[in-house]
Amino acid sequence: MFFSKKPKEPIEVPVGFTDLHCHILAGVDDGAPDDDHMYDLIRLEYDCGIRHICFTPHYNPALFTPKPDKIAESFAKAKLFISENFPDMDCALGNEVFMRPDTVERLRDGSCRPLGGTKTVLTEFHPTTTFDEMRMYVVKLLSNGYKPLIAHIERYDNLSDLDDIYELKSLGAKLQINTEAFESRRKKLIARLVEEGGIDVVADDRHNRERGNPDFASCYAYVAQKFGRRAADALFITRPLSILNISSK
Ligand SMILES: [Fe+2]
Repeated sequence: MFFSKKPKEPIEVPVGFTDLHCHILAGVDDGAPDDDHMYDLIRLEYDCGIRHICFTPHYNPALFTPKPDKIAESFAKAKLFISENFPDMDCALGNEVFMRPDTVERLRDGSCRPLGGTKTVLTEFHPTTTFDEMRMYVVKLLSNGYKPLIAHIERYDNLSDLDDIYELKSLGAKLQINTEAFESRRKKLIARLVEEGGIDVVADDRHNRERGNPDFASCYAYVAQKFGRRAADALFITRPLSILNISSK
């Protein structure tokens, strides 16, 4: 994995990252199966410099149907664990919202939620969603007062044309990539977008201990080395914080 290669010059990696996309809450989706696993994942996030987490369990009724009480219970346990063990860390709740025709209604009735009490919705598409459908969902969210942050854009075969990507951005969508995007089959496209300032957020999308997502801190060092410190700070710190309406220090 190239993140583990030594940078040409040593990069000072700060603490204070924000992770806006993860499946750490226990027993609510295909993420952490139990409380101990959840606590280990929170420790991993802390150890690589993350100080703000927005938990984003899947909202996709075709695959996961956790009771709202279960999400609330798991979030309360995570919050307590963080306050007792990592007082300089904070957390919020959202969902990774799978787009369906009734998504806006489900956001309005509270079946699913934007990120941390904001209007930004972590937006997931089916892998076969066409570009026209993506644009339709983006417009629908925006026209109803929500701000789409499209999750892991490196995954969508139908979102690989630069003009299409920039069209979604010009409409008002923000774009998120996972740490592994820099090593994905789309790495050239991702590198170009990062160079041009087209990507808004890097997030972890961590599901479990075993699935070895590239470490946040190593990914920051890689981005700082290749694209500059300013780009790395924007992607890992300032833009995700601004989405949560938290001012950076
Ligand atoms: Fe996810």
